[in-house]
Amino acid sequence: MAQRPYIVGNWKMHGTRAMLSEARAIDRAAERLLKAEVALAPPFTLIHATRKEASLIGVGAQDCHPAEGGAHTGDISAPMLKDAGAGFVIVGHSERRADHGETDAVVKAKADAALAASLGVIVCVGETEEQRDAGKAEEVVGNQLKGSLPEAAGMIEKVTVAYEPVWAIGTGRTPTVEDVGAMHRSIREQLNAIYGDDGAEIRILYGGSVKPSNAAELLAADEVGGALVGGASLTAEQFLGIIVAAA
Ligand code: G3P
Repeated sequence: MAQRPYIVGNWKMHGTRAMLSEARAIDRAAERLLKAEVALAPPFTLIHATRKEASLIGVGAQDCHPAEGGAHTGDISAPMLKDAGAGFVIVGHSERRADHGETDAVVKAKADAALAASLGVIVCVGETEEQRDAGKAEEVVGNQLKGSLPEAAGMIEKVTVAYEPVWAIGTGRTPTVEDVGAMHRSIREQLNAIYGDDGAEIRILYGGSVKPSNAAELLAADEVGGALVGGASLTAEQFLGIIVAAA
């Protein structure tokens, strides 16, 4: 990894204000944070408070609506996230694709909205176990990339891709280091095809059962620029363990 690894914690639907102590503890480990770029994506309800508690780490959101505003009960727009203190947003997570029927076109519209609001965007892609077993993992991920990535002229540094095999999320199972490297090389080729020379600037994170004990080897795989961490980002102890292993 040429750049500092980018380690992002996705808290999913976890966390009340009591959990802000974990964000504070992560932020206070300043020395360790120098070795990696670190960020947390808490639920919407904690974005503002996390931003106020933590000054060194990045703070982002887990989703946004494609529109700037309007009659969309229960939704949150990218400009609202920006106003709450978010610096980036995750879009297209497999849990949103599955739970809310989000298509590639919807994910792309959300990613475009994020960039229009000057937020960074992490676009998630990944195959199911059935698709991998059928030998279609690279094809599926390639199609997701083609359909989900934003128009990013002049803003390429705000775009990150996260490869999260669906079958590795929250299961304790991970692909082999060789398989991670092969997929990340294939994603890099796609990014170069889509964005030309700019494609080389996009960081590609790995996500799916990353923990302190496997972080070093997963992050050493080809073209892996960091990690998107779920369960192991919920405590400062585990998350800092990953950050130390990554650096
Ligand atoms: O976005 C992070 C994610 O889906 C991975 O979750 O719990 O397997 O680290 P986990």
